[in-house]
Amino acid sequence: MSLNVAVIVGSLRKGSFSRSVALAVKELAAPRMNLNLVEIGDLPLYNPDMDENTPAPWARFRGEVAKVDAVLFVTPEYNRSIPGGLKNAIDVGSRPYGKSVWQGKPAAIVSVSPGLLGAFGANHHLRQPLVFLDMPILQQPEMYLSKAGDFIGEDGKVNNDATRDFLKSFAGKFADWIERNRGAGY
Ligand code: FNR
Repeated sequence: MSLNVAVIVGSLRKGSFSRSVALAVKELAAPRMNLNLVEIGDLPLYNPDMDENTPAPWARFRGEVAKVDAVLFVTPEYNRSIPGGLKNAIDVGSRPYGKSVWQGKPAAIVSVSPGLLGAFGANHHLRQPLVFLDMPILQQPEMYLSKAGDFIGEDGKVNNDATRDFLKSFAGKFADWIERNRGAGY
């Protein structure tokens, strides 16, 4: 049976490089993993007062994450950290207190940038809340994808063979990691 994995893309942009990478991993990871994008763009900013009357997008998001075996984060870097929308999604999923949908779910992070540093800062800032949320995070291979404009075509597809091979090999290691860590922390 396939491993079910939620993919959360840190960018809300239509032509997002990160989304292109997420879709390439989805294709390359099948059939061992079944990856599905979980959208974060419609989530109201987290405010604990609103948990008394849960907004529908929060319930939808929490439900989609709660049912999967693992979570893949594919994110750009904003100002040497993660985009605010992604941090908001993490906060929404972490509450109400004691009901975090992240608890114990194996995770991996792919950071993507058109620049030279591969969004290293975002990749490592993202690790901080995920460690606190008790998610076993894949450590190797490290996935800092730089110069995204060089391996993503006008059609939004990852078109470079070496990058596709790298993503495929990463997907295999992540699947191994999920199998080893599934159920941890529950
Ligand atoms: C950026 N960008 C950026 N890039 C980077 O490598 N390090 C950074 O710190 C930042 N900071 C930053 C802040 C803000 C507010 C924006 C809008 C952009 C550039 C960013 O990598 C580029 O726009 C990517 O194309 C964003 O990823 P998506 O949307 O293509 O997935």
